[in-house]
This record gives sequence, structure tokens and C-alpha cells, in this order.
Amino acid sequence: MSRLLLTGANGFVGRILTARLQQSGFHVTALRGNSTPADSTADEHLVCDIRDAKALAQAVAQVKPAYVVHLAAISHVPTSFKDPLLTWQTNVMGSMNLLEAIKQHAPEAFALFPSSSEVYGAAFKSADSVDENTPPQPLNPYAASKVAAERAFREYSRQGVKGVIARPFNHICAQQSPDFVTASFARQIALIEAGKQAPVLKVGNLDAVRDFLDVQDVCSAYIELLKLADKPGHPPCLNIASGHSRTIREVLDLLLSLSTAKINVELDPERLRPSDIPVAVGNARLLQETTGWQPKIPLQDTLRELLDYWRCQA
Ligand code: GDD
Repeated sequence: MSRLLLTGANGFVGRILTARLQQSGFHVTALRGNSTPADSTADEHLVCDIRDAKALAQAVAQVKPAYVVHLAAISHVPTSFKDPLLTWQTNVMGSMNLLEAIKQHAPEAFALFPSSSEVYGAAFKSADSVDENTPPQPLNPYAASKVAAERAFREYSRQGVKGVIARPFNHICAQQSPDFVTASFARQIALIEAGKQAPVLKVGNLDAVRDFLDVQDVCSAYIELLKLADKPGHPPCLNIASGHSRTIREVLDLLLSLSTAKINVELDPERLRPSDIPVAVGNARLLQETTGWQPKIPLQDTLRELLDYWRCQA
């Protein structure tokens, strides 16, 4: 069984990916940043803040992984505006700490480095669909920190660390924090249905266009990308996208159509951002050609599961 170290294991994607990795035959050591009880099925658990270089080096030396998946990050765009220092320390220095630990203590490991489609930023405005050759033009601290983390990864790769960068577009489903748009809307609908919120659903920018994927499809892509360890000469960086564009308004309407509650929609200025990418749609041709991956789960199914999840929580 291949030993795999997963950072950010207690996050939304981490918990789902842990189970998928185990089903694919990996022995998963889950690294989480705080001592809250592990909500994960991982084979082993370690508590370590990735900003602590010494502790992280010890963890990597202890696990001696054959694979590393680095999910730990500050991933919420508004949080990155509110706390840029935390964002850069976690996303850039945390990544540096991990890369250095891999170089020193697990030099044969293959690392999957999830970045983000957010790195393209302003480039979305000038291209119909961006591919991996489109130069990043980040528009927020989160995206800028991911560009910097990618640069660090490329530098360590030049020095011999093996791995691949992924740039996933918006991935959603049950268990995601309501800080993110679809979870926020689904949660509010569930609370309104349960009589726990006045029938007013607060929204931000409904005109933005995003490329949504079910988190399970993204996890499938991650598992395919780990197989590139056996394929020298693979592309260094690959988008994970559906290629379908949806306005946030369209997604809201789909969610509202799953409810019989009478709901008014109201703009909450607090939910507007200093700068918001108007359109973010991706091109995953390279991933499809390299691994055969295809997204399988229709958005309607994902939204139904998401709303049912929040109904159970309400
Ligand atoms: N969060 C949130 N809440 N966003 C809203 C709301 C709301 O009430 N109303 C409208 N929006 C709009 C945002 O302005 C943005 O245009 C869009 O919905 C999506 O917002 P998020 O769900 O917060 O995601 P994101 O696009 O900023 O970033 C997500 O996707 C990236 C990959 O493309 C995050 O998951 C990032 O971590 C990820 O890298």
C-alpha cells in the first residue's frame, strides 16, 4: 500500500478525498492544522500547523510518504482580503515549508499541489476559455498567494521534487462551508423552509459566471493526477473544469426550483467583493487528453444533494 500524506485533511475536500484515496488503495495519513477531533476516516492522524516549518519537517520525516497531496490553504476569497497576512503565511510559506520538508525527508515522493483557477483572474476577461498557457493575472490576495505557491513548487520541481499542479474550478457539494456561494444559498433555503430564517435569501453578485464541478469529480481528477507519478514527461500543470458556464443567478434559480417555500431574494452589500472575477470558465482538454478524466455528475444532482444536506442540518 502506498503511503500518502494529505494536508488540509479535515477540510471540505480533505474529508471526501481521504475516503476516495483509501478506496483507491492508498494508506492515508491525515495532517490537520488544529487539535479539533478528526472528522475523517484516515488510517493515521497528525496535528501540525503547516506554518510551523520544524513540526512539518518532523511529520514528513515520520511518515516518509510516497505521495503528498497538499490541500491545506486559506481558500475563501473574502477572508484573503480581510487577512492577507494569514493567507500568504499559510498558502505561500506553508507550501514552502512542505516543499522543503519533502526535499529533505521524502525526496522520492510525488506531490499533488492543488492551486486554483482563481490564478487566471483578469485573464478571464480577455480569453473565451483559459488554458494552462494563459498567463495568470490574479485579482485578489488568495489568487496571488496561489500564484506564488505555484512558483515555489516550480522552483522545487527544478531542484528535483516530483509532482504536478492542479488548477480546479469551483467545486461544491454537501459539507462545504456556507462561506461559499452554493452552500450559503442552500443553507438559507433550508433554514427558511424550517422556519428558522425570515423568508429573505441574502445574496451577493448574481451576475458572476462560474464553472461548477461536483467535489467527487474533482477528487476523481486528483486520483488520476496521482497516477502521473509513473508517467515522466507529464504536463506540469492542469486545469480541472467542466467547461460549462453558469451565472450565479442561474444556480440560485436551480436551487430555488427545488423548494416550494416562498422566498424573496435580497442583495446584501456585505457580500459584494472589492474585486470579483466576472466570468471564470475553464478548459480541461489537457487533463482529458492526459488522463482520460471527464466530469460525470450533473449540476442539478449536486445541488439536490447539497440542499438535502442543509435540510438535515437545519
Ligand atoms: N461566497 C458567496 N456568498 N459568494 C457569492 C454570494 C454569496 O452570498 N453571492 C454571490 N456570490 C458570488 C461571488 O461574488 C463569486 O462571484 C461567486 O459567487 C462564487 O463565490 P464563492 O463560492 O465564494 O467562490 P469563488 O469563485 O470566489 O472561489 C471558489 O472557487 C475557486 C476555484 O475557482 C473557492 O472555492 C476558491 O477556493 C477556489 O479556488
